[in-house]
Amino acid sequence: MRTLVTGGLVVSTTGASAADVLVEDERIVAVLEPGTTALGSDLAATSDLVIDATGKYVVPGGVDCHTHMEMPFGGTSSSDTFETGTQAAAWGGTTTIIDFAAHHVGERVLDVMAAWHAKAAGNCAIDYGFHQILAGVDDDAIKAMNELVGEGVSSFKMFMAYPGVFYSDDGQILRAMQAAADNGALIMMHAENGTAIDVLVSQALARGDTDPGFHGTTRPWETEEEAVHRAIMLARIAGAPVYFVHMSAKQAVSTVAAARDEGLNVFGETCPQYLYLSLEDHLFAPGFEGAKYVFSTPLRARAEGHQEALWRYLRTNDLSVVSTDHCPFCFKEQKELGQGNFSKIPNGLGGIEHRMDLIYQGVVDGQIGLSRWVELCSTTPARMFGMYPKKGVIAPGSDADLVIYDPNGQTRISVDTHHMNLDYSGYEGTVVAGHVDTVLSRGTVVIDQGRFLGSKSHGSYVRRSLSQYLV
Ligand code: URP
Ligand code: ZN
Ligand code: ZN
Repeated sequence: MRTLVTGGLVVSTTGASAADVLVEDERIVAVLEPGTTALGSDLAATSDLVIDATGKYVVPGGVDCHTHMEMPFGGTSSSDTFETGTQAAAWGGTTTIIDFAAHHVGERVLDVMAAWHAKAAGNCAIDYGFHQILAGVDDDAIKAMNELVGEGVSSFKMFMAYPGVFYSDDGQILRAMQAAADNGALIMMHAENGTAIDVLVSQALARGDTDPGFHGTTRPWETEEEAVHRAIMLARIAGAPVYFVHMSAKQAVSTVAAARDEGLNVFGETCPQYLYLSLEDHLFAPGFEGAKYVFSTPLRARAEGHQEALWRYLRTNDLSVVSTDHCPFCFKEQKELGQGNFSKIPNGLGGIEHRMDLIYQGVVDGQIGLSRWVELCSTTPARMFGMYPKKGVIAPGSDADLVIYDPNGQTRISVDTHHMNLDYSGYEGTVVAGHVDTVLSRGTVVIDQGRFLGSKSHGSYVRRSLSQYLV
């Protein structure tokens, strides 16, 4: 099957130029001057499908390196399955996800990974890989780490928060980092001082501060910054890289920036919710509404300037990736578990469908450039997690994961129109400039002008190499 995407502006991390993209079956075979007669024939005439991208951007499919499909958490399970979540991802221009296999104390790590493969296989509309969560570290976990790296799982998430659930103590984190220094894996850190947070939560509840907003005030920026600092020190001791997930506090990112200035392999990720939403406006919304915005790290106060600082850190590359941390829980019956006690609200927000649009809004607003949009949403996550150049770039030999993006279109974000299995939208009614028109996943058109043409068996497992950011 030969497909030609013609007339568009092809965007990469180094610029944008008018070009035609020629696809044979699942791969890109050529990026050509517009209208080139190449390979000895008129390409349009000899293609099975010609997609007219005139006036549109052609960008590499989005790589969302932080998702939680059907994950048991907070006494319930995240509401998107691999089937519904990956379809929603495709609608939003994301063609690869990396989901977290969630290990709990007492479980065998390799059994957990096998269970995640079983859940995803045959149920994904787009390609997928896995990170492994390590809840605590013992000899079994270290052995499993070494094995999993060979199976394409080259990154491991650890938690300094959630004591009794996912938490690891400093000694366990150090052991995992030492193993990572040996086997080349990347440790992803949920950096919040969980034991201090638990004290603040108990004290708040004892005072009668039970509303969702207190989720934010019991996780002050100091608990994020302190954990980031401690993790960097442990990574230094181990001689290992460290990648901080879902960062929201400007002080914590400043600590990442200082480490990077010293030349350490320290990386930061943020998510659209931390760029657009705030403690005052959303977490402290009247009544129980704020439950929709309970996730960790928490939203930060706009009055303190976190959101603006995060955009700045995206420009300076102290934050190098934008993921979604897609972890949806419905308001009815799931978020409602925390009525009268914010600590029982399942932590998470669904957003897999809107990352490309929301970060493109940063281009429209002059926060970042077009190439930086592609870098943050596609190229860097692919490189960071060992999938480049298969993913994250429009180049001969790469998978034909393409998004035809209309800069003159508009997207209205709403529960009425989204495809996530979620009964609310964190951005209800917001209209953003730009629109995902057509999406190809490994050469197959999965979204076309408002129609889903994919299938739940199309997505395949991506066996990842080591991170390409490590030296
Ligand atoms: O609140 C969040 N972020 N839920 C998902 C789990 C995690 O910590 O990433
Ligand atoms: Zn986390
Ligand atoms: Zn997460």
